[in-house]
Amino acid sequence: MAEFSLPKNSRIQAGRVYQAPPGTKNIRRFRIYRYAPDSGQNPRMDTYEVDMDKCGPMVLDALLKIKNEMDTTLTLRRSCREGICGSCAMNIDGSNTLACTKACSDIKGDVQIYPLPHLPVIKDLVPDLTHFYAQYASIKPWIRTQSPPPDRERLQSKEERSRLDGLYECILCACCSTSCPSYWWNPERYLGPAILLQAYRWIVDSRDEASGERLDDLQDPFKLYRCHTIMNCTRTCPKGLNPARAIAEIKKLLVERQH
Ligand code: SF4
Ligand code: SF4
Ligand code: FES
Repeated sequence: MAEFSLPKNSRIQAGRVYQAPPGTKNIRRFRIYRYAPDSGQNPRMDTYEVDMDKCGPMVLDALLKIKNEMDTTLTLRRSCREGICGSCAMNIDGSNTLACTKACSDIKGDVQIYPLPHLPVIKDLVPDLTHFYAQYASIKPWIRTQSPPPDRERLQSKEERSRLDGLYECILCACCSTSCPSYWWNPERYLGPAILLQAYRWIVDSRDEASGERLDDLQDPFKLYRCHTIMNCTRTCPKGLNPARAIAEIKKLLVERQH
């Protein structure tokens, strides 16, 4: 019989509350998803009251303050803290974004933080991206050529180089793919917007000589055609990129080459 409610062990429970010291004036409450699959316990939402007078402006600043000063068990990824590495991607205030470029002042009320949706959780805010990276490897994200290597670098005209604008800036944070309903429903077979944007980045690179093979690989009812232009991907990209457009361009190239 169909089951319409979540299994008991996946329901999120109320967690602990870490109060700010008495007399703290500028308090902000951060409600953070906590889950350690090995513990056998359900996920819970812990609440941390942070003194914003002693905290940097970004959500990542608050998370690091919580980890350093209130609860060292909180687990998250981060590296560059300037929107370049993509590792601090998480769901903040209902949208997938980067904790290091999301200002606390842009959020109203309590700050709700979850891991990127629809991925297995390793711990707390750290999702398992193994499958995402395997999909990235599957598109062979490097220049492929048959012609003999030149004596110097492979040159591009300014116009050829400009075709990579809006593509090369992708930091593979996975915010777009994990906001895409088609990817939630078919993560095994649909490549998702991040990987398709990357595929397009190599298809249009004038130095690459495998565009035909790349298109052959994508001519598949699941890898590409699960995109139904819902546009969540473009709306959520913290780098302001447009994966939905890249997907549409690949579809266009596939149609054009049939004529
Ligand atoms: S397209 Fe944007 S949201 Fe998607 S992986 Fe790249 S940077 Fe992240
Ligand atoms: S436009 Fe396509 S890839 Fe983007 S969210 Fe919608 S279905 Fe997913
Ligand atoms: S820490 Fe690198 S993108 Fe946020």
